[in-house]
Amino acid sequence: MSIELMKKNIVRAQAEIDKKRSEVGKGAMRQKYHFMAEEGWLNDPNGLIYFKGKYHFFYQYNPYDSYWGSMHWGHAISDDMLHWEYLPLALAPSETYDNHPKGGCFSGSAIEHEGRLYLLYTASTIYGDGFVQNQCMAYSDDGIHFVKSEKNPVIAAPPSGYDVGEFRDPKVWKHEDYFYLVCSGKKDELGQALLYRSKNLEDWDFFNVLAESRGEFGYMWECPDFFPLKNANGEKYVLTFSPMGVKERTSIYLVGDMNYETGKFNYTTVGNIDWGFDYYAPQSFVDQSGRRILIAWANGWDWMPWWKDWGPTFKEGWCGSFNLPREAILDTDNTLKFVPIEELRSIRKSVEAIHEKSIIEKGERLIPTANGNCFELKMTIDLANSTADSFELRLRSNDHLATIATFDLRKQMLRVSRDNSDDWSQGTTKSNLLLKDKATLKIHLFVDQSSIEIFTDDYKTNHSLNVFAKEDQNKNYVSVAEGTLVIDQLETWELTKTM
Ligand code: FRU
Repeated sequence: MSIELMKKNIVRAQAEIDKKRSEVGKGAMRQKYHFMAEEGWLNDPNGLIYFKGKYHFFYQYNPYDSYWGSMHWGHAISDDMLHWEYLPLALAPSETYDNHPKGGCFSGSAIEHEGRLYLLYTASTIYGDGFVQNQCMAYSDDGIHFVKSEKNPVIAAPPSGYDVGEFRDPKVWKHEDYFYLVCSGKKDELGQALLYRSKNLEDWDFFNVLAESRGEFGYMWECPDFFPLKNANGEKYVLTFSPMGVKERTSIYLVGDMNYETGKFNYTTVGNIDWGFDYYAPQSFVDQSGRRILIAWANGWDWMPWWKDWGPTFKEGWCGSFNLPREAILDTDNTLKFVPIEELRSIRKSVEAIHEKSIIEKGERLIPTANGNCFELKMTIDLANSTADSFELRLRSNDHLATIATFDLRKQMLRVSRDNSDDWSQGTTKSNLLLKDKATLKIHLFVDQSSIEIFTDDYKTNHSLNVFAKEDQNKNYVSVAEGTLVIDQLETWELTKTM
């Protein structure tokens, strides 16, 4: 183990970032208020934590190319989760166990213990033609400069019978006298969440299988996370993960009860955190006011020909952003809501609003926006007085192109199509709409330069999608094919971030 080698590799990577930062920063598709890396490739959020007065975000990062490879941990800090200062990279591949162009320092998490910041992460390398993954630890006193533990790998292999190359993404927490971590494991072609425990963050014992797929949740659970949430009825535990090999589920949540005596989690509720194509590998943390915040990588591996074509931003020298931070709230029926953080109000600029009831009769209405490319929209539909079977939001449109969100009121479905969004994106996402016994339908959405996040059903049905619309695609409409649609209220805000 060499402290010097990691330092050297970080300096080398920083030089690459310095070289490219200014050119890449000018990219036309760069997000205006979502978190991105300065240049290069970003995927999962890692090590999210509020530590010594700042939010720390780490991220899976390849500074050398705008596609995946040689994973480093990027690092940024913030006071509000919206304005960022980039810090030197926290981890770089440097050891036999993590130094491989198709490996590196994979995803993981952070915990504070006695004033020190600890990172638990997966070291991934390749022997022969297969991945070998194990769990490692690094620590820092200032929260900026990290040292890999002498005892790495702190979990050298999965239990016997498990796939040695599908063993990753440790999420650590403390409960009473023990530290726990959950990570993904694969056995008999099925995904599992494995539970370990430790007294000191360095010596870990396998405890139990926290939960497992019986086929319905795929062959591998990437980035599992496990945390308690309270509602008026008491406390429940939530397990989240991104399953591989499951259609229409990029990020799942399970709600149930944890038994710390046995290390078993019994769940009774299953849901999707998001139904869009671009919400993957969410990680949670507790913020300074006690909220449970989730942040995900606004992308996904499964749905696109990624390994052939990395998308339009690739050509600008970058790829990947985070979805907006969302607060997870446990409803009384044990389903979850995911509400964009209130801090977003601080980047609202000029407002446009229709306060009086307005009726759209077979046709379309332009949504007023000060900036039709980067904005927030809140609207309420009066369902009781509308006769239309369905209506559409046509977003980021010009005369030829648009992303179309169809609210099918009769079938109680939401479909979002990006088949005609731009010259690259494709596919339609689908979910139910929970309209039973409802007199109104509320929609809240966030549009940024290259993404759309739609929240509805009281933040229980959400669709996040990337679209690579051009500057002139700045018109947004509500459109009704038959019947009438009554809009109770509509407000939009331009969203801009001044650093
Ligand atoms: C999820 C993931 C993780 C892995 C990391 C590698 O997107 O595949 O399972 O640790 O990305 O970058």
